[in-house]
Amino acid sequence: MATPTEHLVSVDGSGVRFPCAEGDTLLRAALRGGVGLGYECNSGSCGSCRYELLEGEVYDRRPDAPGLSARDRRKGRRLACQSEPLTDCRVKVGPTTEVATHRPIRQAAELRSVTPLTHDMSEFVFAADTHAGFRPGQYAMIMLPDGQVERAYSMSNIGNCYGEWKFVIKRTPDGQATSILFDKLEVGATVVLDGPYGHAFLRDRENQNIACVGGGSGLGAMVSIVLGAAALPDAGAWTVHLFCGGRTERDIHVPEPVAIAGRRLGALHVHTAVSDAGPDTVAGPHFAGFLHDAVLDRLAGSLTDFTYYAAGPPAMTDALARALVLDAGLEADRLHFDRFC
Ligand SMILES: Cc1cc2nc3c(=O)[nH]c(=O)nc-3n(C[C@H](O)[C@H](O)[C@H](O)COP(=O)(O)OP(=O)(O)OC[C@H]3O[C@@H](n4cnc5c(N)ncnc54)[C@H](O)[C@@H]3O)c2cc1C
Ligand code: FES
Repeated sequence: MATPTEHLVSVDGSGVRFPCAEGDTLLRAALRGGVGLGYECNSGSCGSCRYELLEGEVYDRRPDAPGLSARDRRKGRRLACQSEPLTDCRVKVGPTTEVATHRPIRQAAELRSVTPLTHDMSEFVFAADTHAGFRPGQYAMIMLPDGQVERAYSMSNIGNCYGEWKFVIKRTPDGQATSILFDKLEVGATVVLDGPYGHAFLRDRENQNIACVGGGSGLGAMVSIVLGAAALPDAGAWTVHLFCGGRTERDIHVPEPVAIAGRRLGALHVHTAVSDAGPDTVAGPHFAGFLHDAVLDRLAGSLTDFTYYAAGPPAMTDALARALVLDAGLEADRLHFDRFC
């Protein structure tokens, strides 16, 4: 039964129903209710959450969202991550997916510290009142104090009972959210955290040989996966390869907790790659080339032995998926990533 400030959403042909609070999106309400609608970015860009509205009315948060093509719009398709139901609704969705253990919640969180890691990347630490429930590799939506700008950021720590959420954030030149985060948000400021979201979390009962591939802004998510594997009771049986990449040497940073995690893991190998190595820039100790090429080079001969977790710019995750799944024959369900678009 929906309350007066909620609308009821029925999934056509399935008998599944869930309430959606006023102002919430169809996607987030489904996940809060334990219904696994398909999605990736939660930001209107990837198109994975397309659905059809059969009855009812919704408000579209981002009418020009790139996740819908002109053909989608002609066919009346919408994005569940951008639709706020205004009435009870009946919807037609694609196949439902696995739901992560923690259902997303919205809560206030205070900025506790900002620590620069490279020339354009910093670690932001937030504290909330309740425990930080998420799986390694997931992300949260951060709504900045003006209430207008919300973006997805991956946690760089692991779930904990003291409400600590850490993020490694890369500045986007003239970016709306990162300009506020880096230039205006002061320690003590309050944001709204909504999460966790994301499917690219550590599968802790599967393959103990894993490769974590983090390009630029994807570093935090991969650090979380490494820390998550190191915290498992059978950590000593895990072999982890961590790949970190950037354009030049000044983009490369391997956070300190990774080395500490290495002491608990059976084996930890850290590989770094710089894509702009050339006559004027030296690769130094790093692999010279793109991050997916570093993976192919360093794991040559055993590529299909691993389960892969990846995070970073879509060009990187797409290139990795092509190289591993299409060219090397890796089973698609052994590569996990949420597109950062
Ligand atoms: C799943 C996921 C995880 C991510 N994790 C990290 C991370 O750990 N570290 C990191 O540095 N970056 C991460 N990002 C990227 C981050 O969300 C921002 O896109 C990035 O910080 C640039 O934001 P900006 O506002 O500064 O730049 P801008 O150039 O102003 O904004 C561009 C981005 O904002 C999105 N956007 C534009 N309008 C809207 C809107 N109305 N609602 C929602 N989104 C909108 C666009 O799709 C685009 O991705 C992640 C992205 C995704 C999807
Ligand atoms: S467009 Fe909705 S999840 Fe990416």
